[in-house]
Amino acid sequence: MTKPVRKAIFPVAGLGTRLLPATKTMPKEMLTVVDRPLIQYAVDEAREAGIEQMIFVTGRGKSSLVDYFDMGFELEATMSKAGKSLDPLAPAKTGFGEIVSVRQQQPLGLGHAIWCARHIVGDEPFAVLLPDDLMVGQPGALKQMVDAYATLGGNIVCAQEVPADKTASYGIITPGETRGDATEVRGLVEKPKPEDAPSRLGVVGRYILQPEVMDILGRGEKGAGGEIQLTDGMAKLIGRQPFHALKVDAVRHDCGDKAGFVLANLAIALDRPDLRPMIEDYLASR
Ligand code: G1P
Repeated sequence: MTKPVRKAIFPVAGLGTRLLPATKTMPKEMLTVVDRPLIQYAVDEAREAGIEQMIFVTGRGKSSLVDYFDMGFELEATMSKAGKSLDPLAPAKTGFGEIVSVRQQQPLGLGHAIWCARHIVGDEPFAVLLPDDLMVGQPGALKQMVDAYATLGGNIVCAQEVPADKTASYGIITPGETRGDATEVRGLVEKPKPEDAPSRLGVVGRYILQPEVMDILGRGEKGAGGEIQLTDGMAKLIGRQPFHALKVDAVRHDCGDKAGFVLANLAIALDRPDLRPMIEDYLASR
């Protein structure tokens, strides 16, 4: 029997330097894809997967992320008085206590950000969602992972084949046996140069992890880029606990990158019947 995954960590303390100047005063997770901020997509995906508690690991200048999911009291009162529908606000509604936040305080790496949530996670398995990886799938990527977790247990990372010259942007997997969409993980290395990469199977921003990783991350060992890497912490679980990479049926948009962000807007807008015709007309006219 595996314990259910009820909690998810959203590391959202990053500076978003690849998206400057937009992210100078605006958290990258609040950038809008069509009509909602990036963080909304990740929270919706987590909810669909049955997550009950969303843990935001934030930092300075990131308060708007927490405010966004709070009740917009003045806005609701003003809109109601003016007879306007409150429906557009519905996605940003959360239950009492559904969102909690902790501060990372110093940018010491993704592994460090995850470790900052250790007291909230306790001794339960947990999910991690990196909101800049916008995953479009039905069901969502995390739901597909949670379903696989029911039989695989242990640790699961979402994985995709990445271009051979891009391995230095990802955690890369040494693959073992593959059954269906799940591949046994025999090794993990953070951002290897193409000539050092054990495969082209890269980790994308969705994880289901066992709480033991927290103790390993707590040792504060530095890896690639001088940062405390989640990949290195996870690598130490291999051989001790089941560990799989799952290829999900979803399209990934790397919204931490300008082109990826624009493509995400286009892809999501093209899926919207109210927006599709105008965009198609515009693209056809180019
Ligand atoms: C992080 C992880 C990396 C993973 C990637 C997926 O890197 O460290 O292992 O492959 O997310 O998006 P980042 O993109 O934050 O540099």
